[in-house]
Amino acid sequence: MTPIEPSIAGNNKLTTATVQFPEKIDDSFAVWECTPRQMADLEMIAIGGYSPLETFMGYDNWLSCVDSMHLITGELWPIPITFQLPNGWLQKGKTKLRLVHLDRAIATIDIVERFEIDLEVEAQSVYQTTSEEHPGVKALYQGGSTALSGPITFHEIPRQYTDHEYLTPLEARREFELRGWKTVIAFQTRNPIHRAHEYLHKVALELIDGLFLNPLVGHTKGDDVSSATRMKAYRVLLENYYPTDRVVLGVYPAAMRYAGPKEAVLHAISRKNYGCTHFIVGRDHAGVGDYYGTYAAQEIFDQFPQEEVGISIVRFEHSFFCKRCEQVVSKRTCPHDSNQHLVLSGTKVREMLSSGQELPSQFSRPEVAKVLIEAYKS
Ligand code: ADX
Repeated sequence: MTPIEPSIAGNNKLTTATVQFPEKIDDSFAVWECTPRQMADLEMIAIGGYSPLETFMGYDNWLSCVDSMHLITGELWPIPITFQLPNGWLQKGKTKLRLVHLDRAIATIDIVERFEIDLEVEAQSVYQTTSEEHPGVKALYQGGSTALSGPITFHEIPRQYTDHEYLTPLEARREFELRGWKTVIAFQTRNPIHRAHEYLHKVALELIDGLFLNPLVGHTKGDDVSSATRMKAYRVLLENYYPTDRVVLGVYPAAMRYAGPKEAVLHAISRKNYGCTHFIVGRDHAGVGDYYGTYAAQEIFDQFPQEEVGISIVRFEHSFFCKRCEQVVSKRTCPHDSNQHLVLSGTKVREMLSSGQELPSQFSRPEVAKVLIEAYKS
């Protein structure tokens, strides 16, 4: 874990959407049923989670982002956020795209730009591979190579997650202020909570005023545990093991891209938008398979001055349970041999659950294990 630096975030401008009644469709409109990923991006844009983006990127921003991790206006931005369509789908002469989801009009894009994305160039830049076996690359290729950009008019603020732990970035900032927190550390997660996660939270809470538990609930790959189950697990963990006056639980509606280091930068920027001053990056953050180095998602931040990122990155080494220490530790705190160590990871927990094995208490709190086991059984 890096030293805690003074707070510098939480006051950048947010670009949030207002809602307008949809105008009637005529020949100038094309109508598109949004994918879950597109819904997630729309929601993030609408609520200001992707500030300063106010719409999907045009070609100049796409190129600048892929080439240099910056928007053309100079802000740091690591991953293209584009509205993709299958090549040839959009007829010539259409000037508006009505975005619908389950028969509801969500938004309309005034099409000012249409361009072709070089999907392999984007894949290599963002994911460091062009292999379709990578779930982020697969989703990128499936999205199609045509991209549209132009101002968006929202007809409703898309909400994929309708349970109660929901705060927009603005609401989160207000909540932190109300609680009098000067420093707030955000935690991104897409895996069922395990004891190494808990360890990171609690070490952070020793030094920082409040913890924003911000599990990603947008679209994830098929074998990840559902967001409903993960949220249930969080609730029981908080009830039983956390000082709840020092924790806010709220979902992060973005889709998972599995882009490792570049996604860590995106995660950090959006948590700055939520008003957090610090952001946890542990081992293999947002990684999948062996595509990225264990600490690549930490090292990427060395390229940028901290003021440019706008949120302090708190780095954690790989943590695990040590039988001799009888607690979760890391190499920095434990002198014992690796045969004393029990390695904890989301992947390992998933493997054990799907083969019907009990989760040892060093892995998972019993209340959490119960939630996960019930979910896997059903
Ligand atoms: S992620 O895709 O959202 O990064 P996960 O939910 O497993 O996956 O991780 C959430 C955060 O906890 C990430 O910052 C990750 O690096 C960190 N993390 C997970 N497990 C460990 C561990 N055993 N040791 C250190 N950091 C970890």
